[in-house]
Parts: sequence; C-alpha cells; structure tokens
Amino acid sequence: MLHEKNNLGNELHAWDRDHFFHPSTHMAQHARGETPNRIIAGGEGVYIVDREGKRSLDAFAGLYCVNVGYGRTKITDAIAAQAAALPYYHAYVGHGTEPSIRLAKMIIDRAPEGMSRVFFGLSGSDANETNIKLVWYMNNVLGRPEKKKIISRWRGYHGSGLMSGSLTGLAAFHNLFDLPRPPVLHTEAPYYFRRPDRNLSEEEFSQYCADKLDELIQTEGPDTIAAFIGEPVLGTGGIVPPPKAYWDKIQAVLAKYDILLIADEVITGFGRLGSMFGSDHYGMKPDLITIAKGLTSAYAPLSGVIVSEKVWRVLEQGSDTYGPIGHGWTYSSHPLCAAAGVANLEVVDELDLVANAGDVGVYFKNALNDAVGSNRFVGEVRGEGMMAAIEFVRDRDDQVFFDVSEKVGLRVAAALLERGVIGRAMPQGDILGFAPPLCLTRDEADTIVAATKGAVEAVTGAL
Ligand SMILES: Cc1ncc(COP(=O)(O)O)c(C=O)c1O
Repeated sequence: MLHEKNNLGNELHAWDRDHFFHPSTHMAQHARGETPNRIIAGGEGVYIVDREGKRSLDAFAGLYCVNVGYGRTKITDAIAAQAAALPYYHAYVGHGTEPSIRLAKMIIDRAPEGMSRVFFGLSGSDANETNIKLVWYMNNVLGRPEKKKIISRWRGYHGSGLMSGSLTGLAAFHNLFDLPRPPVLHTEAPYYFRRPDRNLSEEEFSQYCADKLDELIQTEGPDTIAAFIGEPVLGTGGIVPPPKAYWDKIQAVLAKYDILLIADEVITGFGRLGSMFGSDHYGMKPDLITIAKGLTSAYAPLSGVIVSEKVWRVLEQGSDTYGPIGHGWTYSSHPLCAAAGVANLEVVDELDLVANAGDVGVYFKNALNDAVGSNRFVGEVRGEGMMAAIEFVRDRDDQVFFDVSEKVGLRVAAALLERGVIGRAMPQGDILGFAPPLCLTRDEADTIVAATKGAVEAVTGAL
C-alpha cells in the first residue's frame, strides 16, 4: 500500500520541529512551525504521496536522483535479498562482495573510454573529497608537490563537505562556513543567458570562458594548478547547458598546461542527458568522474569515483613505493547499496531509459517553451535531456532580474505544488528547475507543462 496512516497524529510534526535538524532549511522558521512540514509516506512511478494522502507528480525526481521512478520492486527485492544473505562486509585490504564487484564491472562497461577502476563512497560530496585527495596523491607520487590547486566554476555544485563545499560556487553554501578554502579557485560560469556582453555569440562566449580560465592559470602559475572540475551541465547553479563548443575550448586550455579534468556526473551519469554519461554527450575526456544519484536511483546511498587508466597507473606506482593507500570509508561499496546499484542499472537497460530521457526530454522542453516561452517575464526556457529550467526576469529586453526579496522563483514553485507538481526553485536566481524521473511519459510531461503554465500565469499575472 502506498500510504498507510498510523496512530501518530500531530506528534510527528512536533517531534520534527523539536528534534530533526533538516538540511538546507530555515532552521528558526522550521522550529517555530512557520514553514511547510510535509511528511512523505510513499511513491509509485513518478508520483509521491504524503501522510495526508496528497499525491504530487515529482518533476524533480527527489533531488535529481530517483531516475527509475518510485516503487521498483526489482530493486527493493535485491536489497532485501542481499540483507538476508549478508548485510555488510567491508572492502578494505582486498575484500569484496559479489554485488560490489559486479557493479564496478557494470560501471566500467558503461563508462567513457579509458576508464579503469571504481572507488565507492556514499554521497556525491564524499566522492569529490576522494577526487581531490587522489589528485594530490598523484602529484606527490609524480614529484610535483606544488601542483595542487583545483579550479572550479562559479555556480558549480559539488557538495557540502569542506573541500566539496569549497568547490561549489554558490554563496549560500559558503556563507558563514569559512568557505571556500584554498587551494580552490573559481572561474567564469558557462552561463550564456547571463553573459557579460550581450553581443557575444555562444561560441564567442565559450571562447571568453576559456580565455578567462587561461588567464587565471597564468596568474596563479600553471605549475600550481592540478585539476579543473565541472558538471557537464550546471545543475544546482541554475540547470544551464553549456554554450556551443564550451567543453572543446576548455579542454584545449587544460591540455596546454597538463591539468586534469574531473567530470562531476553526479546528476548526468547514467542517462539523464539522453546519453549514458554527460562526458560522452559533450565529447569530454575526463581523468576522473564523480557518480552518485542515478547509480542506484537513490534506493540506497552510493557514490563513486571512476578512475581513468592514466590516473590508475600513477596510483599503482604510489602504492608500490609508499604502501597501501590510506583512504577509505567503513561503508565504501556497502553490499546493500551495491545490490541496489546492480538492479537499478538493469532496470535502466530493460526499460531503455537513457533513450527515453533523450526522447521525452526534448518533447518536454519544447512543450514548456510553447506553454510559457512568450510570457514577458520568462527570460529563457532551456534544458538538455531530462533537465529543464525556466528563468524569470523583470524585463527580458533589457535583461533586468528580479530583486531577491520578490521571491518570484519560490512563488512559482509554490503555485506549481498547489497544482500537484513538484519543481524546484533553484537557490540562486529566479529559476524553476525540472529533473523528472527518466521514465517520464509524454502524458506525464503534458501534466507537468499544464500545471506549470497555470502556475506561471498565476504568479506573473499579479506582478
Ligand atoms: C553535481 C553534483 N555533485 C555533487 C553533489 C553532492 O552530492 P551529495 O548531496 O550526495 O553529497 C551534488 C548534489 O546535488 C551534485 O548535484
């Protein structure tokens, strides 16, 4: 049954207010009971249902992660079977379990060319911490201890840890946390809609971003820069596909200075763009790839770093010289999560969800554009595969943005929820984001678009 009420009534809300420290939440308002406190009880397909029995179409797949949709018993059965057989054993000093080994093989079979090994973690954040440590380890092994700085982009999102939060380029994740920390640097976001010079073509703006990167490297000293990290499509920074030729131009700069490329594919890995990996989608040749979310469709927490053969060879050389690598988590490659991953990737294949993401994604973005693109407060409707966004502006000819206090993005997201659909007000700017499950049908896309049209008209009609 999707939703079963128990005899807990308002106590649950009181306990939540009094004892539960929620991530990314206004703590004081929540504790005072001033913000919505929705308790989710079940899910089926692209819908979730709360304790009050209210259903919503989840057009953000949780947090861009429930790629196969809710209620896939193949995955829950696989987790249960693994729990019964062996709930846990660690992976230190060469130990393994069948699902973690099988999953590593499945990932490498699907990964871009040149990838060799998978290190498992639990979250996108910890996988990016691993990335930074591997890059530093590698340059120490190679005898270049000065080459340690990491360049990320403003508006990138790479997690909430000390280093991963530093890599993130969004103020809300830095303020009052003493982040970003050195040796992390930030460069221009590939955000064509917000380009500094309106006269630039997409390709010229990509060149501008590459020139800015080159300048930063020159200023800091090429021998001090170890790696560049980027999401193939900016996610939490606003759901922004790169401008034309962006990745080619960036990679040309990195190659010039022997700088590694880390592709953060936490959102884009395993099909969201209509390709198995965003790197293949955009012709990126990463040295390390971060994965999480779509690896298990969030049926269990699991992340990973896919290590290229080029990096792996240096890591091997390191342990031959210095001994076993001193890095790992108790729950690295946890067998319950690995079992979920194996079953999840099988579901992705069986239902041909990568192709569906490409096909329904294009349909969805075009339908959104037809529905709201001509609204004078809509600056842009954009997207790639099963990711889409609507950016709101006060004046689209002169490109005047709304003041933060007007909360336009938040109001549209709230109006959308009233109409039974979950979108996300992205944290920086007035941007309504969508990242539905990859199994979305055209009919379900129509439902999202109709609700969005109603919500956009209701909010912008009152501006
Ligand atoms: C691109 C990207 N990298 C890393 C992360 C961090 O993942 P987690 O929240 O699992 O730590 C996220 C989370 O949204 C993400 O979108």
